[in-house]
Amino acid sequence: MNAEEWKRSLSETVEGFKSAIEKVEIENIEALETEYLGRKGRLTFLLRELKNFSVEERKELGKVGNRAKKEISEKLEEKRTDFEAKCARGDDRKPDFDFSLDGKPFPKGALHPITIVLGKITKSLLRLGFSVAQGPCLESEFYNFEALNIPQYHPSRDMQDTFYINLSNGSGMLLRTHTSPVQIRTMEKSRPPLRIISPGRVFRRDAVDASHSFVFHQIEGLYVDRKVSMADLKWTLETFIKDLFGEELRIRFRPSYFPFVEPGAEVDISCLFCGGKNAKCPVCKGGGWIEMLGAGLVHPNVFKNVGYEDGKWQGFAFGAGIERFAMLLFGIKDMRLFYENDVRVLKQFSGVEP
Ligand code: DAH
Repeated sequence: MNAEEWKRSLSETVEGFKSAIEKVEIENIEALETEYLGRKGRLTFLLRELKNFSVEERKELGKVGNRAKKEISEKLEEKRTDFEAKCARGDDRKPDFDFSLDGKPFPKGALHPITIVLGKITKSLLRLGFSVAQGPCLESEFYNFEALNIPQYHPSRDMQDTFYINLSNGSGMLLRTHTSPVQIRTMEKSRPPLRIISPGRVFRRDAVDASHSFVFHQIEGLYVDRKVSMADLKWTLETFIKDLFGEELRIRFRPSYFPFVEPGAEVDISCLFCGGKNAKCPVCKGGGWIEMLGAGLVHPNVFKNVGYEDGKWQGFAFGAGIERFAMLLFGIKDMRLFYENDVRVLKQFSGVEP
């Protein structure tokens, strides 16, 4: 390109810019600036070409080139000021939104029914002086079974079959079948008096149906002191169960067997649905009682396993399934509803306080 061609090209560029800036809209002004003054812009290209001219020519052309650049910059600036003034006055530009319209509703989360019930039970027991302890879901056989007086070949292990995991270091672990191992972990770490509850997830090798799941929730309770009796256990359970279901409810103890307590009991509540008056009641089957949880006085072997002095301590323990409480409290008949994340079910609990 010779000097003449360059000049022509420059004036075409400037003319092109002038007609473009006349028509430019506020949202395009940035693009227009880039088109002419940007790194790959039209004017930038011409100015870069100057290096191919002689010193004399460069002097002359450089002057015109810079003048053109100044002119374009000033015009862009002017236009911007113009737009800003118009915007400030509010004319010539549609507002981005209509302030008189309602806001758009957005979905809000709510607590899960299991969380709500867990919260209610925990609240009630904290008031009685218990504090919350935690334990891992991946447990050793020692904590889940042996220390709880369930020896390796004891038939009661069959009732709590679970998922075994072989770690790379060769040790065998399992997904805990109950929250009872937290009893052991707590007693190993601290001395009586002890009053803890431990809510959490537990696992069983169970097929899924309306009342079974391979993962569910329990809450464990443990109270150890010098003198602790079945009366303390009964009072504690009665207090928190009545907190949950109401004062009219009655509870009853039935002798039962759990290797880590002696005596052991299963605890029933009077049927909330028929009060024992309906022989065809689908919940209590007409018996009038609903099985709620397992409990008992801590077995001396358990104290021995954690190194507590023989004969010095007494304690009670209990373990309850949270899903069972939630099903009774909310009248839910199928446990699977808790895990399917069906929003139609879950949103019914929005606003329910723990
Ligand atoms: N861990 C038992 C289970 O999952 C429940 C249980 C029974 C816990 C008696 C206790 C207890 O603490 O004393 O079947």
